Amino acid sequence: MKTNKTTIISGVPRTSIMVAAVRTLITNFFIKEQLEKEQRLEAHLLPYYENIYKKENVVAKTKLSVYDPYAFFFSSTEESKTIILNSLDKIAESCPKVFETQMFKDHFSDCGLPEDLTVDGMINIIKDSSPLKAWSLVSFNNFNNHMALRTKFIDDYVLSNIDKYQQFVILGAGLDTRALRMPFSNSTTVWEIDFPETFEYKETILKEAVKIIPPISQARNIHISGNLIGNNEWITKLEESGFNKNKPTLWILEGLLMYISNEDIEILMNQISSISPTDSTLLIQTLSGDYKDRSKAQTLLSSSVRDSFKSSSNNPEQYLIKCGFTKEIKTFDEHDIEKLYLSPQSTDVVCKAFSQLTNGYK
Ligand SMILES: C[S@@+](CC[C@H](N)C(=O)[O-])C[C@H]1O[C@@H](n2cnc3c(N)ncnc32)[C@H](O)[C@@H]1O
Repeated sequence: MKTNKTTIISGVPRTSIMVAAVRTLITNFFIKEQLEKEQRLEAHLLPYYENIYKKENVVAKTKLSVYDPYAFFFSSTEESKTIILNSLDKIAESCPKVFETQMFKDHFSDCGLPEDLTVDGMINIIKDSSPLKAWSLVSFNNFNNHMALRTKFIDDYVLSNIDKYQQFVILGAGLDTRALRMPFSNSTTVWEIDFPETFEYKETILKEAVKIIPPISQARNIHISGNLIGNNEWITKLEESGFNKNKPTLWILEGLLMYISNEDIEILMNQISSISPTDSTLLIQTLSGDYKDRSKAQTLLSSSVRDSFKSSSNNPEQYLIKCGFTKEIKTFDEHDIEKLYLSPQSTDVVCKAFSQLTNGYK
């Protein structure tokens, strides 16, 4: 009997594995860079090096690197590879000649694949590859760089606010592992909210992963399963698990709002605001209005993800202003983030800006 039950490999939860896979490739690049620059690794990186990198060191060469040692565990599974194969099957059905464009030929040549690769040929290669190698073949440089910029920016944002807040809430948390890999103190709680199928997968995998990579965080980490749209249940569960609406909170919405319509975003933002006192911060990532023109060369699978997008904005500040986060609003697109980290004289464009990060206080 066919059911419509969503699992980690279908529906929007599958996007959390895509993100984790790219973070793994960037993490491996981080380790490679450290080894090349320093000829040695700091002690805390050794468990990752010994247990993962030495066995599978597939990298994405990005302009910035980040370190997420748990991402590997989520992306090296059969489920992860199934997501790629399912998407390629759809491409084979709907657009079998797509690989004939120059963009794909260039990508294949960069990856050492034949330039005249067919979709069926790619499916066979993916079947014979490890999940991580498979992701390295289907994820384009632009997307890898986008993930590196966004992850680095938010990691540093959390680090610079780590002592200011005791409550962090990550909505649409997916396979985000900041609650484990950032140096939170034991007076901090990090809540994560996502669909039950995401947490089922995440918890099963993390149970084993933390035995290999011990978390540096001392925070309490609470997973709340539920749909953020169309109900207040997630707020009830948040409060029942100790969330104090009178304490300032840092909210993170990364890779989430594009899957929610403008109407529902307004409701969600007002819900957040209703439990955020003065001095709370809201950090959101949104797609810019012209993302459709700019995001063609993100990954072989981007067309299937793009179909799930429901919103974009050229004025993301409005989301915050409308719900009362009106102080010190700043928006950073990918060019801004690139300038923050890389030399301002650099003429190298890392990737076209197709998303932006906006943050503001209450
Ligand atoms: C692209 S992933 C991003 C995950 C994570 N924020 C990150 O950047 O690593 C999007 C996540 O949002 C979750 N999501 C989307 N819509 C949601 C909703 N209405 N309620 C709860 N979670 C949702 C998905 O299940 C998925 O895990």
